[in-house]
Order: sequence, then C-alpha cells, then structure tokens
Amino acid sequence: MGWNSWNVYGDDIDEEKILRTADAIIDSGMRDAGWEYVMLDDGWQKIRGSRFLNELDYDPEKFPRGISYLADHMHERGLKLGIYSGPGVETCAGYTGSGGHEREDAELFASWGVDHLKYDSCCWPGKGGQDVIELHRTMSEALKATGRDIVLHVCHCGWDDVWEWAREAGGHHWRIGQDICDDFDLPGHRESYYFDVLDMIDRGVGLEEYSGPGGWNDFDMLVVNLNGEGALVGDGATPEEYRTHFSMWAILSSPLIIGSDLTRMDGYTIETLTNTEVIALNQDPLGRQAARVRKDGDLEVFAKPLANGDQGVALLNRGPTDAEMEVAWQEDLGLDAAAAVVRDLWAHRDLGVSTGRFATTVRSHEATILRVTPQTSG
Ligand code: GAL
Repeated sequence: MGWNSWNVYGDDIDEEKILRTADAIIDSGMRDAGWEYVMLDDGWQKIRGSRFLNELDYDPEKFPRGISYLADHMHERGLKLGIYSGPGVETCAGYTGSGGHEREDAELFASWGVDHLKYDSCCWPGKGGQDVIELHRTMSEALKATGRDIVLHVCHCGWDDVWEWAREAGGHHWRIGQDICDDFDLPGHRESYYFDVLDMIDRGVGLEEYSGPGGWNDFDMLVVNLNGEGALVGDGATPEEYRTHFSMWAILSSPLIIGSDLTRMDGYTIETLTNTEVIALNQDPLGRQAARVRKDGDLEVFAKPLANGDQGVALLNRGPTDAEMEVAWQEDLGLDAAAAVVRDLWAHRDLGVSTGRFATTVRSHEATILRVTPQTSG
C-alpha cells in the first residue's frame, strides 16, 4: 500500500511535492490505516536522454537534498520510499534508464535507502520474449545482491502474459494491463490503449491463480480523487464510483497504490481510503484474489476466501440503474453452512444472520462489500 507520483503529476515531481504528500498520508490517518510506500515514478532523474551518453543520477533542481534525504525522511516517519527505472537505455518518458547498468543502479538505490523499485520495460524495444524476462531477472538479482530489502515491481504493462513469468523472474507485483485512465466506464477506450476501471477488473478475471503471497497481480494505480485533473487521460469519476474502484482493488488483492493529490482530499475520500475493514480484505494473510462467482449481465458477484474461514464478497452493479442483487452461500461461495452472519463493510454494520442467501439493492456503479461468516452447526 502506498502512493505513486505518476497519475497526478506525471514527470513534474520535486522534493516539496513528495514531502507534502508524506505529510498528508500521516495527517489524514492513511499511514495508520496501512499506507506506507511513497513512490517516485519517472522524472526524478537528472537527464532526459539515453544511458549510452549519461550516468544515472537525481535531478538536483527537483531534489536539492538528494534521494537519501527523502528516504531518511520517510523512514523517520514510519514510511518507505520507492523509485522508478527501466531496462531500456531510456525510460518511458525519455529519462536515463538502467539498460546494462543494473548492478550499479541497484547499489545506488540501496545506498540511498530505497525500499521499492518500479522497473518498467515498456521502453524496451521489442517489448517481449525471453529477453524481457532476463532483463527483469537481472535487476532482481542485482537488488538481492545489495542485501537491502527492496520490493520489485515488474512493470510490463500486462504484455507477454507477464503474470506467468514475473514471479519467477523475481517480481513481487506486476501490472496486468496497460495504463489505467481516470474513468469508471468509457467503452472503447481500452482498444486505444487505456483501461478504465471496469476494463481493468475484466482483465483480472481468470488470473486469480497467479496472485498470492510473495507476488501479486497489480491492477495499476488507483485513480481515486483524481477528478479528471491529474496527468492521466480521462474525465474523472464520481466519489461513489471511486469508492467502488477502491473496494474492487481491495477484494482483488491488488497492490493499493493511490495516485492522486493527497493534499486535496475531502472527507468522503479520506473515509474511502481509510476504511480498515475493506483494507483488511486486501491485506488478508491467505492472499487470495477474489474470483467472479456469478455474472448476470451487468450484475457481478466476486468472492474471496479469507484466512479465518470468512468470505469477502462484492456485489458489483456495473449497470445504469439500481438493481436487486444476491449471493447464495452454497451455489456462489461453496459454503457448507446453511446460515451466515453478514456484515456490511461500508455501513460498518452487522446485518444479522441470513439463511441460504443474502439479497440487497445495489445502486448503479456501486459495490456492496460484505464479510460473510459461516455459522457452524451447534
Ligand atoms: C508507463 C507506465 C506508467 C508510468 C510511465 C512513466 O509505461 O505504465 O505507469 O510509469 O510509464 O514514464
């Protein structure tokens, strides 16, 4: 769980923005709810230009006190620092990449006190094949050789069935799709590169087996609170749609990496991002990605088995009108128990014991998120 600079700022980042974000994570209560990593995306580097001609270093105008200052700052506050590079000689935005200098760069990142690396191969010519797997593996090994505990995001934009090889190549999470856009549902966008929230959910269906402790399907950074004003393509979504997006990323066990301006959040957004009951579904130690267990047109039910025997359930209404939805204990969740206690994780309320099934009205573009506790006989 953390924040990444790309969705809101693009490459226009600097020390002040990063420090203000860290303050906001603490002051809003997000840190206490589990948000930990503050990640610099592309644009922290000194030079826009190829590694053939340049050394990798930070931009001293954007980061006058350097990256290790930021890392120390985060660590003193119980946070962690992430950084960005790629196996190309240039990164995706044209800055100096790591191409061929993995060992040096891993050591540099470790010496700065970095805790996470997003390693982005979008920039690698050819974009596929064994080559790209080896390039990620090389960086993974270089990171391990530093002796520092650094999480590796193998960012390959969902190409080349990355979920099949990223874990083995040393990745701890991997994007399953191209970039998210700041839209809940914009049919046709996906075909022109960008995935809206519903596209991204569809992309993850069927990939459940690849995600679990140690390595996770990454549904891309959250667009909650961007409101069409970030650096991404898209017109924004309603606060309720953003909440649905957050709930679904949580139950799908995606890394939760928020990408908006945290210094400008209203109460509803803070409530969305600090719902520890929903976050607990995401962080559950069993680490199972919810599967889609029922689909009736626009009405979809997702379920995620939890470590204590409970189930996390999402009743997702993708349609344009409010709808009656239900989940059946045996048919949808495979439970033996006839009865179960149902808790609504947004209302923070137990709804009592339901026998056989639970039904409720779900508003358009909203998701009712439940924790279901089977009742054992006696
Ligand atoms: C893209 C990536 C984005 C961002 C950008 C930086 O390939 O999908 O998330 O990291 O590169 O240039």
